[in-house]
Amino acid sequence: MSAPQEQRYDRVARALHWMAAVLIMANLASGFAKDALDGIWNVVPLHKSIGLTVLVLGTARLAWRLGHPAPPLPAGTPAWQRKLAGAVHASFYALIIVLPLTGWIMSSASKFPLAWFGLFAWSKFAVTKDSAIYAVGREAHEVLGFAFAALIVVHVAAALYHHIVVRDQLLRRMA
Ligand code: HEM
Ligand code: HEM
Repeated sequence: MSAPQEQRYDRVARALHWMAAVLIMANLASGFAKDALDGIWNVVPLHKSIGLTVLVLGTARLAWRLGHPAPPLPAGTPAWQRKLAGAVHASFYALIIVLPLTGWIMSSASKFPLAWFGLFAWSKFAVTKDSAIYAVGREAHEVLGFAFAALIVVHVAAALYHHIVVRDQLLRRMA
């Protein structure tokens, strides 16, 4: 059973949400598993291509969201939950753009070419490994990666809490 149409995110928002979610989780996994995979599989080129795709999808998502407000939350939703959900969602929109950007900045200084799934060259910023922007980008990429993973745990726990414990229609707004 679906939530009533007026309480659901539209088709474009739902498609972008799930595409971005799958790709982001794949990239968190490949990023954190990179060292463990050393000598078995160089996952970094795939990681970069997926991350750049997230940047494009994330920008499209943010643009779509600015023109298409979220469906109203159920009337009884407590204020603290509205605020927490709003803060987590806003942080997601920022991270979906800033995290790949820091990766792009960091990889611009690498000797390896940046090519989207090997299909075409992706431009690089004029950054070198001895610059401050490289150091900040690299540090931020790691720290924000951890922050992103932590927020996803909160977000998914909230979605599952609604679905399994409260047993309301919240998950279906995005399904
Ligand atoms: C949603 C997008 C992305 C996510 C969630 C993500 C996440 C991560 C994580 C968690 C790590 C491991 C951090 C560490 O332990 O050092 C990592 C490493 C890395 N990421 Fe990303 N990343 C994304 C996008 C990108 C993009 C767009 C690029 C480049 C175009 C990129 C390039 C790299 C590189 C080169 C490393 C390895 C850094 C090292 O040498 O240790 N990432 N990423
Ligand atoms: C990388 C993973 C994910 C990211 C970055 C993400 C991001 C977001 C964002 C930004 C929103 C707010 C949409 C808006 O108001 O424009 C949202 C809503 C939502 N997400 Fe996710 N999401 C992720 C994974 C998931 C997963 C795995 C689930 C389900 C278990 C889920 C369930 C939902 C639901 C139900 C909503 C609607 C909440 C509401 O009605 O206010 N998300 N998500």
